Amino acid sequence: MTCGGPSLRPDIEVVEVMRLLSRIKNSPSTSTTASLPTSDSAATNPTPGQLVLRLMTEEDLPATSRAHVSLLPFGMFPSLGARFVRRWQRTFLDSRHGVGYVVIDPAVAPGAVVGFLLGTSDQTAHATALTADRRTMASLAGTGCAALCVRPRVAARLLRSRFRPWTRRLLHRPVEPAAARSFTSPQVAVITALAVHPGWRKNGIGERLVAHFLEHVRTAGARWAELQTSVGPLGAAGFYERLGWRARSQRLTPDGDVLRTYYCIPQSS
Ligand SMILES: CC(C)(COP(=O)(O)OP(=O)(O)OC[C@H]1O[C@@H](n2cnc3c(N)ncnc32)[C@H](O)[C@@H]1OP(=O)(O)O)[C@@H](O)C(=O)NCCC(=O)NCCS
Repeated sequence: MTCGGPSLRPDIEVVEVMRLLSRIKNSPSTSTTASLPTSDSAATNPTPGQLVLRLMTEEDLPATSRAHVSLLPFGMFPSLGARFVRRWQRTFLDSRHGVGYVVIDPAVAPGAVVGFLLGTSDQTAHATALTADRRTMASLAGTGCAALCVRPRVAARLLRSRFRPWTRRLLHRPVEPAAARSFTSPQVAVITALAVHPGWRKNGIGERLVAHFLEHVRTAGARWAELQTSVGPLGAAGFYERLGWRARSQRLTPDGDVLRTYYCIPQSS
């Protein structure tokens, strides 16, 4: 098995309307791709029982940032609250290397997010452009400081766990700014966040989101895709292994969590 996930039709890269996923999975006679409407109007007017998978937009950010905080409470950013996460997620939508997809359930509300994926098609280029964008960095820093002011416990925890490594990194930083990816280094895509609401899990939504991401980044020229997930019970190591991703290395975070890196070489479907 490859880590490409289910095969995707190229003409539904941006908008895919899914039948109620439990019906897809439970009915082997139902071909998912054969029944998918391909036009934008199908996405805006899905029939009852359909979910919509489409590119993430700015209007989705309130829902995706809340989902991030509640469903992916790992690391520093979610502990700064939904407002900060929303600002940070927007940097992906503003970036030419950012990739964002949502699955929504229009039966609940037009913007009811069931799951989302956020990542980049070229992590080095994305990070280089972001750190060079002073206005965005200042906005992120301001939102982060505002969040810390009303969360003194988080601020204290950050000081305890991050102060030393950050200072060390700053002191040993090269005088020249980090160069963008050189011509010889490969383009690596990264899944930064993936989450599906608990009531919708094990219906194929996560797999579909990952498959769309891989097709997207393959077309954008990525040689391989990477991600990090916790090896603990709250992580998704089993999910990625089920999809054929390979484990590489693992590291201990300042919060004491063990993160494992997985990679996958996107295959054309
Ligand atoms: C991980 C997550 C995104 C999976 O989403 P999902 O929609 O439930 O996944 P799918 O239904 O597409 O699952 C695809 C396959 O993986 C399996 N699977 C799903 N979660 C799994 C897990 N945690 N461990 C092992 N296998 C898993 C499914 O059973 C399915 O296999 P099958 O086709 O043989 O039935 C979801 O559980 C989640 O949001 N978890 C919390 C957040 C998180 O950990 N995100 C990842 C951080 S990068």
